[in-house]
Amino acid sequence: MQIGQTITQFIIEEQRRTGGTGDFTALLNDVFTACKNISSAVNKGQLIGVLGSAGSENVQGETQKKLDIITNDMMIDATVWGGHLAGMASEEVDEVSPIPSRYPKGKYLLAFDPLDGSSNIDVNISVGTIFSVLRCPEGVSDPGEEDFMQPGAEQVCAGYALYGPSTMMVMTTGHGTNGFTLDQNVGEFILTHPDMKIPEDTREFAINASNERFWFPPIKRYVDECIAGVDGPRGDNFNMRWVASMVAEVHRILVRGGIFMYPNDARDPGRGGKLRLMYEANPMSFIVEQAGGVSSTGTERIMDLKPTELHQRVPVVLGSRNEVERVIAYHKEEK
Ligand code: AHG
Ligand code: MN
Ligand code: MN
Repeated sequence: MQIGQTITQFIIEEQRRTGGTGDFTALLNDVFTACKNISSAVNKGQLIGVLGSAGSENVQGETQKKLDIITNDMMIDATVWGGHLAGMASEEVDEVSPIPSRYPKGKYLLAFDPLDGSSNIDVNISVGTIFSVLRCPEGVSDPGEEDFMQPGAEQVCAGYALYGPSTMMVMTTGHGTNGFTLDQNVGEFILTHPDMKIPEDTREFAINASNERFWFPPIKRYVDECIAGVDGPRGDNFNMRWVASMVAEVHRILVRGGIFMYPNDARDPGRGGKLRLMYEANPMSFIVEQAGGVSSTGTERIMDLKPTELHQRVPVVLGSRNEVERVIAYHKEEK
């Protein structure tokens, strides 16, 4: 029986069309292996005692869950040995992780969030893994933070794994966005969502409304108008969702449209929002744009930003084109 197109077959065929190297396919295969491993650990949960806090903090001052650390190690172990990477950067590690000298080095850089939405892990709600692949600058064999400071537009590939009712892998290499579902029996991601496209219009928004009192006027105006429904200026009713796992929110938007916002706010404006540019906002922006959506800070295209720090935060407004453009217009009108 034919099982459908595997993700490896898909990438090799895409590589033949676009002239990529086998090196890149091999790197992605290692990333997929990591995500299958993470899927298995997340799925077993407390059966193998992995839920709960690790009692430590990451560089961003967030309390780490046991699974933040376990999944970080899984991603590193699956990709470090293969000879395709020159360096790695993770949400859970302060600085760039070098490739140990016992392994050959390659030409790519990998940035990742090993477990996105980890506040949801103990309550058995969907979580994910996000990754971004960059080229290591020519002539650099021991990349440091400065070598990762490339705009999102330079990404070679971006993807996420979603550990939900099904485990899925959604990725782009700049030729559209494609979704694959893990067949647990076969152990392969199979193409199930070819050429995903985000509807241009939506009546569904996602924002953590508990931060409302800190919002700046353009975001407050947009959300107020949605909530006013048929009686307000939009003349239509809107629905709201907030999973608190960016991976789950972006996946919903890819499947049925929507707008997702994690804006900067007045609580700590210098922080620039919550989400991290290198391993959350940039890869998700690449995936969203390749599916016909828009991704902005509210004033700038996220993928045009020149990063300044590995763990830099950035405001995020992404999803259905016409709604994101409306939020951008509200920011312009505010100036
Ligand atoms: P992480 O678990 O990797 O730290 O990321 C969590 C992020 C993101 O996935 C989600 O959209 C957001 O934080 C939720 O934030 P609130 O808890 O403020 O709603
Ligand atoms: Mn995250
Ligand atoms: Mn995380």
